[in-house]
Amino acid sequence: MDKINIALCSDHAGFELKEAIKAHLAEAGYDTTDFGTDSAESCDYPDYAHPCAEAVESGRCRLGIAMCGTGNGIAMTLNKHQGVRAALCWSMDLARLAREHNDANILVLPARFIDPTVALAVVDTFLTTPFEGGRHKRRIEKIPVK
Ligand code: RB5
Repeated sequence: MDKINIALCSDHAGFELKEAIKAHLAEAGYDTTDFGTDSAESCDYPDYAHPCAEAVESGRCRLGIAMCGTGNGIAMTLNKHQGVRAALCWSMDLARLAREHNDANILVLPARFIDPTVALAVVDTFLTTPFEGGRHKRRIEKIPVK
């Protein structure tokens, strides 16, 4: 696996899963940058999603992985950033297609609705699947609001 830097973020609902993913990525040889949260204490996901999105947008982190209870609030926040394509995925097929067709640069997981073992497999799929380009490149170039 390439040694790329992965941005991580979650709210309290995703904290435990974020920690498990961080350990999994360290074992696999990835560098990670953790934008928080740092505990299971109740917090607001935008406070962690915006810095994580900025790191991916700027290229400081090549890809990101984010999670909250449903994944929806954190995905909505991340996708406010023009350079972010955050994809909510709960299966390996969805993660593969998010990379192949959408060149998604942040994987979003629904922490309260996914088995942790499945989540790690979804992460591995997301990080190892290349973008197909071609017609999909034309489509993703039309996503940003000018
Ligand atoms: C927190 O209770 C929950 O609302 C949050 O994790 C997320 O699911 C919001 O979209």
